Amino acid sequence: MAISKKKNSPTGNSRKAWSGRFNEPVSELVQRYTASVGFDQRLAEFDIQGSLAHAQMLSAAGIISAEDLAAIEQGLDQIRDEILSGKFVWLLELEDVHLNIEKHLTTLIGDAGKRLHTARSRNDQVATDVRLYLRASIDDIVGFIKAMQRALLDLAEKHVETVMPGFTHLQVAQPISFGHHLMAYFEMLQRDVERLIDCRKRVNKLPLGAAALAGTSYPINRKLVAQKLGFDGICENSLDAVSDRDFAIEFCACAALIMTHLSRLSEEIILWMSPSFGFIDLADRFCTGSSIMPQKKNPDVPELVRGKTGRINGHLVALLTLMKAQPLAYNKDNQEDKGPLFDTVDTLIDTLRIYADMLTGIRVDQEAMRAAAMRGYATATDLADYLTKKGLPFRDAHEAVAQAVRFAEKKGRDLSALTLPELRQFSQRVNQDIYAVLTLEGSMKSRNHTGGTAPVQVRAAIKRARKKLS
Ligand code: ARG
Repeated sequence: MAISKKKNSPTGNSRKAWSGRFNEPVSELVQRYTASVGFDQRLAEFDIQGSLAHAQMLSAAGIISAEDLAAIEQGLDQIRDEILSGKFVWLLELEDVHLNIEKHLTTLIGDAGKRLHTARSRNDQVATDVRLYLRASIDDIVGFIKAMQRALLDLAEKHVETVMPGFTHLQVAQPISFGHHLMAYFEMLQRDVERLIDCRKRVNKLPLGAAALAGTSYPINRKLVAQKLGFDGICENSLDAVSDRDFAIEFCACAALIMTHLSRLSEEIILWMSPSFGFIDLADRFCTGSSIMPQKKNPDVPELVRGKTGRINGHLVALLTLMKAQPLAYNKDNQEDKGPLFDTVDTLIDTLRIYADMLTGIRVDQEAMRAAAMRGYATATDLADYLTKKGLPFRDAHEAVAQAVRFAEKKGRDLSALTLPELRQFSQRVNQDIYAVLTLEGSMKSRNHTGGTAPVQVRAAIKRARKKLS
């Protein structure tokens, strides 16, 4: 980002927009400390959109002339072009994106530029810009989540029948479909989308018109501005409009949850990829090697997702802390909302994009998954359920199966490898039909209800999910 000390103004007038009442200029250090143009220039497009809508309303209400409006529109268009082409000179002494644009507008079109700020304050201006920025970001993020959900569905579809050990306490628990496991993350992301869409409703309210804090004495038309900018409504209280950043906090909470979900998936990918598990392999482009250990292929991307989740959680706490002790209405503290908010959006978008790509490059070692499920007596519950269905109370069945597992362990065999007479030592109720449920596939198939891991159910879940995405 280039910030110049050069002046945009041909008059060379570097006086501040507000310096009329001051006897001495601020020091260099204070200027740097208080300026936000280094980071808020990314709001420029939204600042221009807000100014255009404001000026159009001022003209419609007879507060500025049609000629002034035409000049403002032409000047802002030119400024937009200059910014897009990198020609615009950002000046630190003009503090922020708002004053930089306004000052340059005045340089370009004269007095009409000075009239733009009628019935407006930077306080309602910046709140509007941030809301417009965040609304657009939320729309982008929802799109990226959906892309990742599609990648999850494609992978899940390939692995509806792939058996893996389901874990509790990271101990082998029951056999499940790998596709079913992946669909759990689809559900999490689906709730994340719902949360964002709900959050967007509160983001999408217009603060402009609140002016500094109390409103304005001009006969403004806030509804018209809201309509022009695509807001669903207006902030109903002027003090609240300029001072609260709860919408940004709420967004950061949504983002922290999304990252938390991705972090959990990352943790699993890291485990699955470790040679001790050996369940999956990631495409090389998501991994790095070690400069000392030639055999290593490290899952850097999922590890960084896990790590960056810490940063995103930190941004949420930063914004909550920023807000907690501010008296009404606007305080300069709020300028500090931008760093955490922008970084949250950037990190989240990068993470979602990389994840969608990474999922397409996952190779699954079905044999390794199967072997791991076999090692953990994953069908013990199925044996207990079988005995219960034959009339044995569940607690007694549990005990009988515990004995059977001990026996099998001693013999070094899986439950399904025990002979009928061996199994009957633990309960006379066992018959030949036990083998249909003791296999991994039999166990999986038997969990046949909505939300269960039976392949027919997983297929149905994927179908429902695809419908939700279309
Ligand atoms: N750069 C400021 C911010 O981000 C704009 C609002 C400044 N308002 C003021 N009264 N100093 O919050």
